[in-house]
Amino acid sequence: MSNQRFDLVVIGGGPGGYSAAIRAAQLGKTVACVEKRAGKALGGVCLNVGCIPSKALLDSSELYETALHKFAKHGIKADGVSFDLPQMMKRKDDVVRALTGGIAGLFKKYKVTPVYGTGKLVSGTKVAVTTDDGKTEELEAGHILLATGSDSVELPFLKYDGKTVVTSTEALAFDQVPKRLIVVGAGYIGLELGSVWGRLGSKVTVIEYLPRILPIADGEVAAQVQKLLTKQGIEFHLETKVTGAAVKAGVLSAGGVTVSAETKDGKKLEFVGDKVLVAVGRKPHTAGLGLAEAGVNTDPKTGRVLADKEFRTSVPTVSAIGDIIDGPMLAHKASEEGVVFAERLAGSKPHINYDAIPSVIYIWPEVASVGKNEEELKAAGVTYKVGKFPFLASGRARAMDDTDGFVKVLTDAATDRILGVHILGPRASELIAECVAVMEYKGSAEDIARCTHAHPTLSEAVGEAARMAFAGSPINF
Ligand code: FAD
Ligand code: NAI
Repeated sequence: MSNQRFDLVVIGGGPGGYSAAIRAAQLGKTVACVEKRAGKALGGVCLNVGCIPSKALLDSSELYETALHKFAKHGIKADGVSFDLPQMMKRKDDVVRALTGGIAGLFKKYKVTPVYGTGKLVSGTKVAVTTDDGKTEELEAGHILLATGSDSVELPFLKYDGKTVVTSTEALAFDQVPKRLIVVGAGYIGLELGSVWGRLGSKVTVIEYLPRILPIADGEVAAQVQKLLTKQGIEFHLETKVTGAAVKAGVLSAGGVTVSAETKDGKKLEFVGDKVLVAVGRKPHTAGLGLAEAGVNTDPKTGRVLADKEFRTSVPTVSAIGDIIDGPMLAHKASEEGVVFAERLAGSKPHINYDAIPSVIYIWPEVASVGKNEEELKAAGVTYKVGKFPFLASGRARAMDDTDGFVKVLTDAATDRILGVHILGPRASELIAECVAVMEYKGSAEDIARCTHAHPTLSEAVGEAARMAFAGSPINF
């Protein structure tokens, strides 16, 4: 297979890379996709150690939590409910295997050639691939797409050891429920995996150095999330800086750890745990790609590949998408960029509206948002209106007995155009889709309010919040 030529060689088989490869092949290009993950698994971080396994465990642990704490109120007796962790992990692994195998099937269907090994730029039109057995082959390319994703950030004073101080990857596969789990970072991963293990019985302590959790979320939503998670048993220490950790085998259960930290007023704290999950962000995965030698520029501050709005790097035949370039590190952002890149390569001119990329945190209740939050609007000096509707007033939420949270619609005070929507509540992840669609069409709160929402559904809460933003008050509150 050495020295094959393709119209497009994609390095990285994650949601960005595989979507680009499939779309380009559908549009008649010859495409190879290089992936180095062990076991020849396609799908990247997302399918293997990210979105999918975390959601599988979130769903399983949520069902357990429901059986344990909510069944009785519904009049369902399920005495002696317990869980089987190996089975829970097996189900998660089965879901991952089915989906990663599905990508291999799609590659076959659309005639994308998978090349398993580590890719490196030799030039703007040549990629060297080194396989596990040390063999190297070269692929000639009309165009090269970099989609190599990201890795967990490591704190210099809290090095990963893969057992006690771990990344999300290990925390998705613990073989026992840690009695005490210390989480560093109150962002997406900290709250999602903290929720999983908290539901399964861990005492979860979250240490965050900012004065609030979820720095990307709307402030009011984040404050409410903190209250709800505290009620669920998670302990938060904000404005607290971790300074180090020491494994004290023998003092604690085997592999135990003491994390030292300092509050903003200089008070020294010690947290004792069985595992420490460090979730302080992710960094672009560009090591060993040969970027500098090939002339591909990176941002000296973030390490991300510099790409323009059409994903072009400093080398005309090399483009980049997904977590390695600027923007939110989200799977749907990466895959959307992949599709748009491929269609542009084939001659059309689609674009991405970065103001309408939703984000979801899959805790319970879920958090979903799109567009600007209140803090951002205030900072930009925008005059805005707020429409808010609590799930407590939703008939469906009452019927489900899931009444925590609210929908908040932010609009331009002068034009009623929707600037942002923030939902904390049951199935917020699904409810946000309507708001994304309306924002894509530059719609107004009145547009949402005048759409008929089926009764009784949670989506009525979105309609009611929109009604409040445009008409001053909802009907049912
Ligand atoms: P990746 O998915 O990282 O894929 C890059 C691929 O490139 C990898 O498979 C890697 O092995 C390969 N590669 C790297 N270098 C080379 C090389 N030199 N040669 C060959 N192959 C190479 N996002 C969401 O939107 N929703 C979620 O629910 C969500 N949950 C997450 C949960 C966790 C625990 C984590 C860690 C992340 C989560 N994310 C989620 C983020 C999401 O996984 C990423 O944004 C997404 O995977 C980025 O896609 P990508 O294609 O840019 O890169
Ligand atoms: P994050 O950026 O979401 O949160 C990191 C948190 O750690 C922040 O609150 C930050 O203030 C804090 N922090 C940073 N340094 C710290 C320190 N030294 N001590 C204490 N706190 C510190 O990062 P996270 O959770 O690691 O996730 C990485 C990325 O993966 C996310 O930004 C997101 O893009 C993606 N992801 C998306 C998910 C989803 O879409 N549902 C789920 C999981 C991950």
